[in-house]
Amino acid sequence: EQPLDELIASLTVDIPDHPEPGVLFRDLTPVFADGPAFGRMVRGLAAPAVSDPRVAAVAGGADDPGYDVVVGVEARGFLLAAAVAYHRGVGVVPVRKAGKLPRERIAADYSLEYGTATLELHADSIRPGARVLVVDDVLATGGTLGATVGLVEQLGGVVTAVSVVVELVALAGRERLSPHTVHALWTA
Ligand code: PRP
Ligand code: HPA
Repeated sequence: EQPLDELIASLTVDIPDHPEPGVLFRDLTPVFADGPAFGRMVRGLAAPAVSDPRVAAVAGGADDPGYDVVVGVEARGFLLAAAVAYHRGVGVVPVRKAGKLPRERIAADYSLEYGTATLELHADSIRPGARVLVVDDVLATGGTLGATVGLVEQLGGVVTAVSVVVELVALAGRERLSPHTVHALWTA
């Protein structure tokens, strides 16, 4: 069987200068569209390495993945987070772009590789002490996931790990998320 990172790399399409000049956009939609690749990707995201002591510290045993809920980031993160949550039998909570969530919410402004925006989370969506796996497709500068982790922690959630399909290492998002565990299926 082909290693998962090679499979993801082979299906990803690179788009120069999208959505603005200078950005090499990694388009993962062909990976999502491939059944076997999507399945392996979802199972990979669901399993942050228990060999990481930070993950092992919150995992209770073989049947406990170390998280009680999965948080997904709009929009592409939704496709993955729901599948990961279903796979593990836990719930899924959306972090949304500003103006979408209808009830009491908390907000964080952030910058990303190609712009700035605001993310929101329903105030009652994370129980204090809940262990949270945060899922998205791409870790670039880490602005998006940094803001997401901040929102989860503001509600008293404990972030077990941040799982992404691809980490764009040149943009140093991992450093921005330190000391959290970043579990990336592919580094590009
Ligand atoms: C992309 C991607 C990540 C984020 C990564 O989402 O899905 O969420 O950017 O960039 P960063 O690490 O520099 O913050 P985008 O905001 O383009 O939204 P979309 O999923 O709605 O297309
Ligand atoms: N591809 C997809 N999403 C992204 C990228 C990218 O290269 N950079 C920031 N978000």
